[in-house]
Amino acid sequence: MSRELRSQSWWNGKEYYNFSRRAWLRSEGYTADVFDNKPVIGICNSWSELNNCNAHLKQVAEAVKRGVWRAGGFPLEFPTISLGEMFMKPTSMLFRNLMSMDVEESIRANPIDAVVLLCGCDKTTPAQIMGAASADIPAIVVTGGPMLSGQWRNRKLGAGTDGRKLFDLYRAGRMSDEELCEIEGGLARSAGHCTVMGTASSMAAVAEALGMTLPGCAAIPAPDSRRLTLAELSGQRAVEMALEDLKPSKIMTRQAIENAITVNMAIGGSTNAVVHLLAIAGRLGIDLKLEDFDRISSRTPCIANIKPSGEYLMEDLFEAGGITAVMSRILPLLHQDSITVNGKTVAENVTGAQCWNNDVIREVENPLSTEGGTVVLGGNLAPRGAVIKHTAASPHLLQHRGKAFVFETYKQMHEVIDSPDLPVTKDTILVMKNCGPKGAPGFPEWGQIPMPRVLLDQGINDVVRISDARMSGTSFGTVVLHVAPESAAKGPLAAVQTGDEVELDTAGRKLTLHVPEEEIARRLAALPDAKPHYDRGYGWLFLQHVNQADEGCDFDFLRKK
Ligand code: FES
Repeated sequence: MSRELRSQSWWNGKEYYNFSRRAWLRSEGYTADVFDNKPVIGICNSWSELNNCNAHLKQVAEAVKRGVWRAGGFPLEFPTISLGEMFMKPTSMLFRNLMSMDVEESIRANPIDAVVLLCGCDKTTPAQIMGAASADIPAIVVTGGPMLSGQWRNRKLGAGTDGRKLFDLYRAGRMSDEELCEIEGGLARSAGHCTVMGTASSMAAVAEALGMTLPGCAAIPAPDSRRLTLAELSGQRAVEMALEDLKPSKIMTRQAIENAITVNMAIGGSTNAVVHLLAIAGRLGIDLKLEDFDRISSRTPCIANIKPSGEYLMEDLFEAGGITAVMSRILPLLHQDSITVNGKTVAENVTGAQCWNNDVIREVENPLSTEGGTVVLGGNLAPRGAVIKHTAASPHLLQHRGKAFVFETYKQMHEVIDSPDLPVTKDTILVMKNCGPKGAPGFPEWGQIPMPRVLLDQGINDVVRISDARMSGTSFGTVVLHVAPESAAKGPLAAVQTGDEVELDTAGRKLTLHVPEEEIARRLAALPDAKPHYDRGYGWLFLQHVNQADEGCDFDFLRKK
């Protein structure tokens, strides 16, 4: 071994605490030789029964341990909080930064030489990467993989995307209670994250593109035996990384972040990846801007034909060759020399990776769209930016001017959205306020405002929708998100009134409120200060320190100085 391991300062020495730490750990039944210069590999496990997507991670952890022991290391598994997307109220995003702090401090405070991060559901992957970036000891990610494809009456269903579409049919009275109950039982058939290119799949791909997983990790289905094989290999590799001192800061460089953005665009990935990558970059002291996403998006073809932008599911992507095949196809657009966790470059990892289905992973000459999935908008309605996933939008609405119908809050929207006399048409632009980081609070996925019943009854399935919220990566529609500054911070969104003319100009990258600037300023000045949602505890801390969407919604004190 070439370097002094971090853990040795816990065990080695003549102090009482060196002796007592060894004694207390031996209470778990270990022999004394675990203290003999073995790299201690922490296994940071976000397993929880309150997070179905990560419910299989105990088994994954056992596979990691096999690899660690085999390579001469000493594995110690530890829990952190877990964030179940479906269960946490008001939104799991409120707690992403809390989990990242838990991960960072658990790593830093303990005798760990390298860490294997086990994650899966939407926020658990970015939270672990953020925490590991700040702790900056060697780290390797093992995502939990996508769940099995849903099934219903000989149809394959994508959790999230198809569930929403079918539920809209139920809302419109075109599906029975019995049918909905059958779908409920067949939509999510195993542990693992949602099986479309939602936020979890996108963040798994981002982790692989960043170089933080072994090649091929992202798309292996959760129940597939090869995920356990990859976990074992990751445990084995973590031991080597501890000895090489291969830290996150050496892997997650600006070039690696740009690779992750490129891959997210090529797969039609979630708009939430924008927020998470901004936060990860902030932890590393990398000056990343929303404009970087638009620059990269405009040069990157979207080639992964996966829902909600395309037709297939993550299982199909895995069988077609996974993210390595995607990266191989767009290799000229990537920083090929970036180092990854296995010590090899991106080019070494993906050159020659085969694609086995050219309809699932399109050739660059035959993309789903010539641009990446996410467009960044500016304009007087979003001076610090907004995003739209144009590959999941209706093409005829991407250039659109219409009259706004405004919901002041999410609650008010729900109270009236199904009214039979809601005064909206196919040309109306729905605007919803107070759904941002401070306003909601927590920046929930409320941005895909449900289609008004009155429009569904006319067979209209999409209108332009604008808010300061996020949207689930499994969602679809012409939905403008992340408007910054948010309305609760008195951004221009707060000034929009029903009847105002609003224009979405996707090609021109602009979101415009056609109201004179003096009138916008007058309306904003007349707004009362909002009452804070929390006056104590973590919620209070969040409101005091959360950044806006264009900075990743991290806490100001967690960004690297
Ligand atoms: Fe966990 Fe979709 S609910 S990934």
